[in-house]
Amino acid sequence: MSTVHHIAHPLVQHKLTLMRNKEASTNSFRRLLNELASLMAYEVTRDMPMQEVTIETPLETMTSKVIDGKKLVFVSILRAGNGILEGMLNVVPGARVGHIGLYRDPETLKPVEYYFKMPQDMAERDIVVVDPMLATGNSAIAAVERLKKLAPKSIKFVCLLTCPEGIAAMQAAHPDVDIYTAAIDRQLNEHGYILPGLGDAGDRIFGTK
Ligand code: URA
Repeated sequence: MSTVHHIAHPLVQHKLTLMRNKEASTNSFRRLLNELASLMAYEVTRDMPMQEVTIETPLETMTSKVIDGKKLVFVSILRAGNGILEGMLNVVPGARVGHIGLYRDPETLKPVEYYFKMPQDMAERDIVVVDPMLATGNSAIAAVERLKKLAPKSIKFVCLLTCPEGIAAMQAAHPDVDIYTAAIDRQLNEHGYILPGLGDAGDRIFGTK
């Protein structure tokens, strides 16, 4: 079974509390998400493979380690996932970026893909899928299913908030995908929103409500 990494760092928790407040402006919500995403990037890249390179310091030649950021792909689930990208790229500027768009068919209630654009050579890459909310898990599960067809080296999932229902669904569908989250909230409501949550992440990032 996959591991759920709950990032309990005080800076992460502090910023998340400010974001949950319904009085937070679009501007501060977006800025906080950006900062939080950078902090979460530290956690999700903790076990990234490194390689030795030879460099010249002002005094000597030495071998030292670097991350191969170009092998890492951040995949944003549209549209709210885009709110996490910038903060992650601040920490790993060499990473590539992919986008996946899904909507729910009103009749079948199944996710339907409307956009899919990834870097080349996905079989050589480690993927970090980003979406602020892991709620029902439907989009995350469908996105990971689609990405697995490209046979990447690994897939991790990063969200700000999740709930027991979202974790259970994701772990049942993809027991090999670790989940990184800043909080595990109480429950889903009947409309698929996380409680107590922070509302609609997309609307709060883009100011659309
Ligand atoms: N998506 C959101 O934006 N918020 C939720 O609470 C659940 C899903």
